[in-house]
Amino acid sequence: MGAAIETKNLTKSYKSKQGGRINVVDHLNLYVEEGEIFGFLGPNGAGKTTTIKMLLGIIYPTEGEGYVFGKELGDMEVHRIISYLPEKPYYYEHMTGLEILRFYGSLFGIKDDDLFKSLLEKVNLAGDMTKTINQYSKGMQQRIGLAQSLLNDPKLLFLDEPTGGLDPIAHIEIRDLILQFRAEGKTCFISSHELSDVERICDRVAIINKGRIAKQGPLDDLLKGGRIEITATDITEAFSKTIQDKDAIVSFSHGRLIVDLPDDHNPNALLDAVRSSGGTIVSVIPRRKRLEDLFLETVSGHDGSSVEIPNPNDAKEGAEA
Ligand SMILES: Nc1ncnc2c1ncn2[C@@H]1O[C@H](COP(=O)(O)OP(=O)(O)O)[C@@H](O)[C@H]1O
Ligand SMILES: [Mg+2]
Repeated sequence: MGAAIETKNLTKSYKSKQGGRINVVDHLNLYVEEGEIFGFLGPNGAGKTTTIKMLLGIIYPTEGEGYVFGKELGDMEVHRIISYLPEKPYYYEHMTGLEILRFYGSLFGIKDDDLFKSLLEKVNLAGDMTKTINQYSKGMQQRIGLAQSLLNDPKLLFLDEPTGGLDPIAHIEIRDLILQFRAEGKTCFISSHELSDVERICDRVAIINKGRIAKQGPLDDLLKGGRIEITATDITEAFSKTIQDKDAIVSFSHGRLIVDLPDDHNPNALLDAVRSSGGTIVSVIPRRKRLEDLFLETVSGHDGSSVEIPNPNDAKEGAEA
């Protein structure tokens, strides 16, 4: 599989309120593999939407370059095989779900009610296609947006905060649809500041802060470094002193032993030793590192990568290059 998206030093600057310019996207090197769900994460104002708009060719980079399926940004042929669900889609409220698809379909020159109906079915709106958009819940509006983004059977979908403001059930529905897209071989580029979604479905992520990539890689690699906590009772103090693992955090009091191990250490030898010393295992609890921990570490600078969360007012709205 090749690259669906690749950027080299992709940069966008705007005039800042203080005078001078500010890089809201700052020398971004992104790599998105074909067929994967890629999570593009960062706090509000980090530069996610600006990056997506450059990748779509809606706005021009100030510096750097980018390729979508090997073609330079803005290539018209690529437009046929990509689609975009904006952060705050706006639909004509008096139109029905079916009419919306007919309307957007006409922009692509598609007049195919069977296709529109099958897309409505796919996003579970077949029963609601004659209701108008103002009768749709937020989750339904987001699903009609997904149906619309599938009109051209895209190979790559850009979904900007697709679960923003949705309730937990709607989250799950959207997530399941995105997983279905991947199963059909589509590449999904999802921006989000909501981590729990991403944690469950993304193959790889990039965390950006102040326009820069703070971390990028396979989710499994980034989340390495979990711990296992073993608790045992009926332990002698002598036994507690035999634990030699230098990476273990051991606490012992009144016959109760708690050992906290890195999750790449096999706990079996310790469990066997506890039992043969006459001890009782109370619990063995793996604690996976959460994306949330990594995110906070990254954007709050605990790992030294970056420090401030950007102030969205730092750049002047509309002050285009
Ligand atoms: N047209 C524009 N003119 C000036 N500043 C802008 C413009 N568009 C976005 N910005 C600024 O760029 C920064 C990044 O915005 P955005 O890409 O929307 O962030 P995100 O999608 O990660 O929340 C923000 O500080 C925002 O105010
Ligand atoms: Mg945004």
